[in-house]
Amino acid sequence: MRNKIVAGNWKMNTTFQEAEDLLYEITDLLNERGKNDTMIIICPPSPYLEMASDIGVENDFFVGAQNINDHEKGAYTGEISAPMISSMGITHVILGHSERRTYYGETDAVIKAKIDLALANDLVPIYCCGEVLAERQKSNHFEVVRQQISEALFHLDADVISTVIIAYEPVWAIGTGVTATPAQAQEMHAFIRGLIGSKFGDDVADKINILYGGSCNAGNAAELFSQPDVDGGLIGGASLKAGDFVTIVNSFSE
Ligand code: PGA
Repeated sequence: MRNKIVAGNWKMNTTFQEAEDLLYEITDLLNERGKNDTMIIICPPSPYLEMASDIGVENDFFVGAQNINDHEKGAYTGEISAPMISSMGITHVILGHSERRTYYGETDAVIKAKIDLALANDLVPIYCCGEVLAERQKSNHFEVVRQQISEALFHLDADVISTVIIAYEPVWAIGTGVTATPAQAQEMHAFIRGLIGSKFGDDVADKINILYGGSCNAGNAAELFSQPDVDGGLIGGASLKAGDFVTIVNSFSE
């Protein structure tokens, strides 16, 4: 049984006060407008994780980190480890995001190490994959995503991989205002589910949650989420506006 999931990736935005205000604005709106059974995961900047998690516990949303280091502990000045995040009651972590792959040179090997550390520390990875525009234009997008999924996830046991959340985020759609069409999202999500099925079996494929990310907003979420293989969204820009985020949370058809 899959969930309906909306995760907010705040990236490197908000001061402490703005973050706290935004969380209360979101919870007030959820109480006012009502909330369906969507699972909400908010991923604020790391310094605000504890504050967010305290508010989350009271208000029925989960809190995720945006990154962890690929080592468990040690002399890595400035870094944040999976055990640190986990010991604070944080439940999820975004890994493999294209911004980390591009700006911080994260390789598949590094991302795989992070996935393993997350899982070993009871954190649910939200594993991002997706092609850049040139790869889609060359019709290479399925192969790119196949490689990203197989290199990061295919070494896991079937009962473990079914707990991972996959986010398909075409890089050309992230922060650009250009959204994948519902048909493009559905096509890739079905492909990913098929990949998981061929490696781990249909039961696992039926269970795994696959989110869409990339300029998903209050205006297009309902159509994207109505696709049979789209289990929700990973939302960047629109997760910083309480009203839009709550509209997205409530965009699933029953
Ligand atoms: P966007 O970002 O919604 O602003 O396109 C999505 C993401 O990077 O997760």
